[in-house]
Amino acid sequence: MNLPKSVRLVEVGPRDGLQNEKQPISVADKVRLVDDLTAAGLSYVEVGSFVSPKWVPQMAGSAEVFAGIQRKPGVTYAALTPNLKGFEAALEAKVEEVAVFAAASEAFSQKNINCSIGESLQRFVPLMEAAKAANVRVRGYVSCVLGCPYDGDIAPEQVARVARELYAMGCYEVSLGDTIGTGTAGKTRSMLEVVGRDIPRDKLAGHFHDTYGQALPNIYASLLEGISVFDSSVAGLGGCPYAKGATGNVASEDVLYLLQGLGIETGVDMDKLIAAGQRICDALGKANGSRVARARLSR
Ligand code: HMG
Ligand code: MG
Repeated sequence: MNLPKSVRLVEVGPRDGLQNEKQPISVADKVRLVDDLTAAGLSYVEVGSFVSPKWVPQMAGSAEVFAGIQRKPGVTYAALTPNLKGFEAALEAKVEEVAVFAAASEAFSQKNINCSIGESLQRFVPLMEAAKAANVRVRGYVSCVLGCPYDGDIAPEQVARVARELYAMGCYEVSLGDTIGTGTAGKTRSMLEVVGRDIPRDKLAGHFHDTYGQALPNIYASLLEGISVFDSSVAGLGGCPYAKGATGNVASEDVLYLLQGLGIETGVDMDKLIAAGQRICDALGKANGSRVARARLSR
């Protein structure tokens, strides 16, 4: 088996995890979540989004969250930015790295960011220029890489086309999102085989929602395809406001358990990660979505 020795976990719980929560969540709870996650050893946390508050109200306080966190050296604190306006707000909040997001499906692009795929890519051009001038790295997302809630099946070539465009415009890494979690290990490998023809595999990341319970096999399939960066969400928090029925990202604790079992380094402490997840679940009054956390906490 040719598996990586180490994996970088991109913790998206404070953003992807919380963005869909309908109940108000205090800035203090969000700040504590981010600080708990970095205390557990995570070196990359997506803290929030600078998007329209009309579209995603829960992320409206992202600047305050950035102002409240304890920034640890060596940790990247990132935010989603859909356009130049969002990028400028992120800069003001002293965000060190941003992410732009496009979709592999036209219908999802319209529902999520109110424009076509082509228009979204055009919108990113001035953002990329501003980011370059400000020395801010930009990560790129492609949504719906293994299926779309509106368009159904998505051809791997279509994913490759959008990923290639993001990479060519300067995204240092492209995260491939199974937004609705319908993908399977076989589909994951076929998609990566096609996308990997144009983009080096060490510039790709996997972002799996766990709606159909396939995220862990998909991560394992991705590891076999040479991918070594994965997005996950503590306690499996989340869902997507524009993908009805989609559940959260794969739980970070469950990914960590898989990787530990394979002898792959992450730098993350399981006990502290579980504590971080349970603390936010308690604050939200929600059941913990991580199987590993539930098992460990019931011992
Ligand atoms: P729009 O309505 O087409 O844009 O929205 P607009 O330019 O016409 O602006 C409309 C209003 O929004 C204006 O305000 C703008 O100022 C304001 P008004 O004059 O009406 O008062 N506005 C903004 N406000 C704050 N920050 C901004 C911003 N931009 C405009 N950056 C837009 C287009 C992209 C803004 C909107 O559709 C939007 O914000 N969408 C966000 C959707 C989102 O955050 N989705 C969830 C994240 S993506 C995801 O979860 C998938 C991922 O996890 C990967 C995966 O799972 O596949 C990443
Ligand atoms: Mg997502």
